[in-house]
Order: sequence, then C-alpha cells, then structure tokens
Amino acid sequence: MAQRADPSTSAGFRALCDDLGLCFGGDYNPEQWPRSVWNDDVELMVRAGVNLVTVGVFSWAAIEPSPGERAFGWLDDVLDLLHRNGIAVDLATPTASPPPWLGHLHPETLPVDADGVRLVAGSRNQFSPASAVYRSHALAIARDLAERYADHPAVRMWHVGNEYGQLDHGDEAAREFRGWLKRRYGTIERLNDVWGTTVWSQAYRSFDEILPPRRTPYLVNPAQSLDFRRYTSDQLLLCYTEQRDAIRATGARQPITTNFMGFFPHVDYWSWSDEVDVVADDEYPDPASEHAAADIALVQDLMRSLGHGRPWMLMEQAIGAVSWREHNLPKTSGAARLGVLQAVAHGADGVAFFQWRQSHSGAERFHSAMVPHAGADTEVFRGVERLGADLRRLKPVVGHSVEASVGILFGWPSWWAGEEPARPTGRLRTLEQVQRWYRELWRRGVAADVVRPGAELDVYRVVLVPHSYLIEPDTAAALHRAVAAGTRVVIGPFSGVADRNGRILQGRSPVLLHELIGASGEEWTALPEGPTLLQVDEAWDVGAPVAATASVFAERLRSDGAEVLAMFGDGALAGHPAVTRHRFAGGRVWYLGAIVSDALLSAVIDDALQDAGVENALGEAVLPGRPLPVGLEAVRRGSALFLLNHGSEAAQVTLPATMHDLLTNSEVGRAVAVQPGAAMVLIEGLTQ
Ligand code: GLA
Repeated sequence: MAQRADPSTSAGFRALCDDLGLCFGGDYNPEQWPRSVWNDDVELMVRAGVNLVTVGVFSWAAIEPSPGERAFGWLDDVLDLLHRNGIAVDLATPTASPPPWLGHLHPETLPVDADGVRLVAGSRNQFSPASAVYRSHALAIARDLAERYADHPAVRMWHVGNEYGQLDHGDEAAREFRGWLKRRYGTIERLNDVWGTTVWSQAYRSFDEILPPRRTPYLVNPAQSLDFRRYTSDQLLLCYTEQRDAIRATGARQPITTNFMGFFPHVDYWSWSDEVDVVADDEYPDPASEHAAADIALVQDLMRSLGHGRPWMLMEQAIGAVSWREHNLPKTSGAARLGVLQAVAHGADGVAFFQWRQSHSGAERFHSAMVPHAGADTEVFRGVERLGADLRRLKPVVGHSVEASVGILFGWPSWWAGEEPARPTGRLRTLEQVQRWYRELWRRGVAADVVRPGAELDVYRVVLVPHSYLIEPDTAAALHRAVAAGTRVVIGPFSGVADRNGRILQGRSPVLLHELIGASGEEWTALPEGPTLLQVDEAWDVGAPVAATASVFAERLRSDGAEVLAMFGDGALAGHPAVTRHRFAGGRVWYLGAIVSDALLSAVIDDALQDAGVENALGEAVLPGRPLPVGLEAVRRGSALFLLNHGSEAAQVTLPATMHDLLTNSEVGRAVAVQPGAAMVLIEGLTQ
C-alpha cells in the first residue's frame, strides 16, 4: 500500500467536530435541480442547523460530460454558495457511477458476473475494480477534483467513491486474481497444496489456468472461493487507496474516507479501517424487524471498534422509508430521532442522511429525504429541525468514546469460509449467531467492542466467540493469554474448525482450543427438525428454571475435565455435554456444543458476566435474569449516560445520582421514567 491513513489527517475529523460540533447533514445532489432550488436548499439547511453535506457522489457525468472534458463551473458555484452560508462540504470523487460513455467506448470497464454476463450502464456501480481503463479514468477525475478544490474553504472532508462492494468475474479480474495468488503463494505447487486440488482432479500446472469462481457444473473448491473473496476485498481497497493517494498528492490536508456498509459480506473492513482517516458507515435498519435497535447497535459498535474506539461518522441513513426493500415500512420521526441519538451514543461524532432533497426522478424517487417532495411544511422536515437542535446540545460528547468490558470476536474470512456450501447444515449463519449473542448484552446495558482476530483480548473481562469457524494460531494464543490473565471466554459451536485456508484441522475439536475448554468433540452434526431437550445441571445456579433446548446443529462432545452445565436429554447425543464450563489458570471458559435456546444462551452469558464482575451502563452489577426494562437501551459514552427507549412501555430507571439532561437542559432526580420513544442524555454535576 502506498501510504496508510495519515495520523495528522485522522486528527482532522476531531478538529472538524471540535469546530462544528457534531456533524449533521446529508448527501446533497444539486445537479438534479435548477439553480433556483439551490438557494432554497441552503436556506433550509441553515434553518435546520445542517453543517456538513456530501456533494458530488454521483456527479461524474455532470463534471465530465464527454471524455476528458471538465465542467467544474456549477460545482464552483455550489461550493461557494455553501461556504458563504457556513456549510462545510464532504467532497466526493464521483467514481461509483461512471457515465455511459465509458462503458460504450471501453466495454472492458464493465463488470462481469459469475455467469459471464457483462453488466451495462443504465443503473450505477457498473465498473470493474480490476479494469485498468476504469481505474485510470477514475484516478484522473479524482486528481483533477482535488487539484481544483484542495484549498477550497468549504471542503473539510473527502469521500472516495461510494459503498465499495462491486464483484467482478471478468477477464481482467482473472488477471488480477492470478497476480494476487502469485504474490500470496509464490509457486503453483504451494497453491495446489493449500487449495487441496488433489480432490476432484483440480491440480493446476500454472497460474494462467486459474479462473475466478465462475459458473461450474457443481460445487466450487471452497479454498478458491475464499481466496477470491479476499482478492475482491483487496482489489476494491486498491481502488480506494489509489484515489486517496492521488487526493493527498495534491496537498489536500482534509480527512479522507469512504462509506462502509456495516457487516457487508464482500469487504473485510478490518483490512480497510486503518486506511481511512475516519470510519464512516451507511445504516438502514429495517423498521419491520423486532431486533432492529439491538442489531444496529452492534453495527455501530463495530464501526467504533474498526476505528480503535475513535469517533466515527454515520454517513448515510434514511429519515423515513428506503425504497429498495420489497415492502418499505417508514421510520416515524421519533424513531429517526432515536436512531440518530443511538449512533451518537455508540460513538458517532457525525450523523448524515441519504439524502437532502428527495429526487423527483430516477430509481430512488420514493426514497425518503430530509426535504420530501411535499417540501418543508412537513413532519419530516420539522423532525430534521428538531434533530439539528438536539445535536447542537450534545456538543459535550464530541471526541469521547465508549469503554467496553466485553469483546466479541468477529472476522470476515471466518464468516466467508464458514458459509461456503456443503457443510453439516446451511442453517448455521455466522452473523445470526453474533447478533443473538450481542442482543443479550444489549438488553443488559453492557457495552461491547467487536474485536478483530489476532488482537490482544486480555483488555476485556469477558470475550464472546459466538461462531468463529476459522481460528488461527495467533487468535488461539491470544485467547489462552487472556484466560490465563483472568478473562472469561464463552465460545459457541463450530468454532476453530479450520485453518486460514479453510482446511479442516485434524484431531479432537476445536484442535487449538480444547485444552482451554476442558472438553473436546469428535463429530459435527445437524439436528432433526424441532427442539432437542437438554438437561441443566441442578447445581448450576441460573436464578430461575431455564427452557433448555438445542436446535439446528450440535457436536458430539466429551468433558476432559470441564463441568457439564447442560447435557443432551434425548436423541443421538443423549448423555453428551451440550454446555461446559472450565476453570483455566485465572479465568474460566464456557463452551456451547450446540445452538442453544435463547433462555439457555442468556443464562450462560449471565453466568460469565457475573463471574467476571461486569457492570452495566448504570453502574449496576449484572445479575442473572435481571436485564433492563424491555426496549430500553443504556450506553455510557465518556461521562454521558444515554437512555433510549425503543420499547412501547415507559421504562423506570434508578440512576446512580441526580443528573442533568443535555437534551432538555434540566436536572433529573434519581428515579426517572423514560417514556416510549423518548431519550435522555445525562451527565453528572453540570451547572450551566
Ligand atoms: C446508500 C447509497 C445511496 C443510496 C442509499 C439508499 O446509502 O450510498 O446512494 O442509494 O443507499 O438507501
């Protein structure tokens, strides 16, 4: 990589927020509107307290109507207008959507899917990340933009491309993939060994014979597929870093970023996150999901963790409904407000929407926006004004982070390898398990970081490993060190199964962890439909009786010294352990040899949290069976306690002290009721 993110410009986002307060705004696409509307836009932005807008994400055709031409006049005027009105700009390189002329003149810039179909213009994202011609055109426009605007006083941030995630299986992708494989393996013999090409007569004589995993008669080699995913993530990262470096080479000093997409399956954000000056994310929780609030909190904790705890930015979200689901339930303006405050609670120093003004045409004409088709005399826009006012009051949280005592291990290659086809069950899904486990923390008000494989783990009191199919020796060693130092670790089923290339480790499982666990397995098996009964050990104190069952997947385990907390009561595994607990040096390890019922999972997590002495955001010890009131989210960011009621009942809370609510600028006593849909941001001892 030419240069990493620059520490001085990473600090630039902090400086921007120290200056502006929490950033607030949205994607602004003035090229879709006559100039007369621009003045209204800016007037409304000022009214709502918008202080940062992203300009130019889809402006390639407006800037370069024909090859090599540059039409910057309109953009000069937009930036000047925004600046005159005190609105800062996050200026985008428009490289996510090339104009039709590029694919027309250079068809090789268009991506090809796994079936060999070349995708065409008429939508967006029609570029091949491997195409030399695409990349040179993208670099040229990024460089010219930066040369022209690096010193423009409105420009306070750069936004490269948009939501990198394009897949390409074409001939140029094949060439780049081969180069990537050569760099990784050196020789074809090594590649053949790692990919296990003796199976099904797949041995390659040279790298030239290798293709991306295109349509095949039957299952693709999973190691080839895993490497193609790694290559795809790296190739997309190259598209980002080369534009970033071109911007930097013009002398631009603003922070540079691109927008992530949460747990997006095609890009390994752990390998990207140190390349951006500020982590930025696009988030579209589904209002129809009963778990939306907890699941998006997990995404937000991932974003904070990707940036090593530093403030991040919620770059795009919907103020109401999206238009790309089959059935698009809107957020109410109250829910939109809670969502924004939730992002700030989890460490965001900026919140922005897609988009400022709703498009009258195009594919997203029904996607909500801050200024809807009906204009500013609407509930939506009044909600926007209220948000602006709320965010101004939260300036004291700028720069602060969330201290988490629990870490959740998650890595993309493990997710990829763990979901290749042809496993004991296709119903064990990594993200589903991570979400289930995280929800247990969320409803207890316990803060968590998401932790990258290989990181030191002893900084956490509790580490959760819901499902890590790949566990490499460095992660296994970090787990051993952490447990030796007193950390409590809870490990879920089908973890530590394979090495980094997806090759199944030989021996009793999990091969690298069974001494730590004090139990080991010899078979992975799908379970018959319906719940399989488990028996909970009577000596295990879980507060109240627990409905203990397993479903979908289990392991044939035996204890090698661990206590058995629950065992199979019937079926083929009757009498075998399902949940174990093992003391190892200063710490303790729980192992779940099956997908267990929510109640049993909850009891295991309670046990570990209590054993580790973990406290919730209210400063209370976590006790078995005592979560927060249903729907209440409690997060401590710096000294501010965020209470957000996503539920439908008032939540009664006892605070550690009398506090001051930043949102209402008033004192609150120790006993508070947080009404449904309401929020409080409380700090101790403020005198204003
Ligand atoms: C993402 C994209 C936007 C827009 C929205 C729609 O945020 O970056 O361009 O398509 O999704 O939800």
